[in-house]
Amino acid sequence: MRSFTYRSQCSGEVKVLVNQPLDEEIRRLLERYTGCVLITPSSISGLVKQGYCPRIMIKDGEEGKSIETVLEVIKDSMNHSLDRGGVMIGVGGGSTLDVVGFAAAIYMRGIDHVNVPTTTLAMVDAALGGKTGVNAANLKNVIGVFKQPVEIVVDLGFVKTLPQASYLDGFAEVLKYGVTMDKGLFRRLNDNVDRVMARDGTLLEDLIYSSLVNKAKVVEADEFDKLGVRIVLNYGHTVGHALESASGFSISHGRAVGLGMVCESSIGVKLGYTKPDVPGLIAESLTKLNLMQDIKVNLDSLLRAIMGDKKRTGDYLNIPMVTDVGDWVKVKVKVSDYLRLVREVCGYLG
Ligand SMILES: NC(=O)c1ccc[n+]([C@@H]2O[C@H](COP(=O)([O-])OP(=O)(O)OC[C@H]3O[C@@H](n4cnc5c(N)ncnc54)[C@H](O)[C@@H]3O)[C@@H](O)[C@H]2O)c1
Repeated sequence: MRSFTYRSQCSGEVKVLVNQPLDEEIRRLLERYTGCVLITPSSISGLVKQGYCPRIMIKDGEEGKSIETVLEVIKDSMNHSLDRGGVMIGVGGGSTLDVVGFAAAIYMRGIDHVNVPTTTLAMVDAALGGKTGVNAANLKNVIGVFKQPVEIVVDLGFVKTLPQASYLDGFAEVLKYGVTMDKGLFRRLNDNVDRVMARDGTLLEDLIYSSLVNKAKVVEADEFDKLGVRIVLNYGHTVGHALESASGFSISHGRAVGLGMVCESSIGVKLGYTKPDVPGLIAESLTKLNLMQDIKVNLDSLLRAIMGDKKRTGDYLNIPMVTDVGDWVKVKVKVSDYLRLVREVCGYLG
């Protein structure tokens, strides 16, 4: 087991435990609280064994990420007499953790919550950082607040039941941390793809721990996404999100972000920010991890989706550009120039 803490400006220290059985940790945690509820999607409730807290079952995925689900959590918590000294424990993928964090933020004006991620994407990304919320009016994450968990418990037992494609999807984000901020992580991921495929616990502990440490450093520096540091976490996501939307969400998030990183790094080369070998190195890693997907979308839809990117301010996009593996800079690019470059450099996507 490996652990660390990071500091949140509003909630103090957040404890992160990687490769810690949930059952053991829950007993210790509950000594500090007057009560608890454990919130989990019905799809995985069979995987969650513990009997210490009353259980609230919710729907997960994008459909379950709604204000209605938040209200269900709140009503059930009241029925279980959860008071302000209690804790909500979210056990699930990113969609569940986003809902639980938001419910905890508004229940009785805010109570503590713990994140227990059960997908690789949630283990390396969604569980940490304090972005909580739900979808509404056909828009993703349009309602939400920043609210850090008090603790994040990564129990590697949950990895065993993940379908291979969904298991591998999370490694696009591990690759992102490596490419943007951590050359050592990039190397360890690339040198050990066979152990990734075999779901080797020791390696997983190292890759998840390093990913979370990298993300925590960024979150500590720019908790509320106001200073331009947190945009590094968006690497590959400007084009990636647009690919997801232009493909009608037929491409998975990890694969879209992977292709997004190849495209964005190629644009970086064209603009003179990125070393020429970077796009090839990213593509090589994605291929080894079975994350390289040959996909064609309507190029106009892709460009329209980029225009709608949340990181756009007026005529400009504020985006991260990798300079070399492990380093990045913040760049402001005119939207019209960026769209022209996507068409020119990443035309193979259309
Ligand atoms: N808050 C953040 O910082 C942040 C960051 C990244 C992503 N997200 C959000 O996370 C969501 C995506 O998360 P996700 O990829 O974890 O998907 P998800 O939560 O939708 O779960 C995907 C599927 O995996 C299944 N599942 C979960 N754990 C399992 C296990 N151990 N074994 C077998 N099946 C299991 C679930 O039942 C579900 O069907 C999106 O809504 C995204 O917006 C949030």
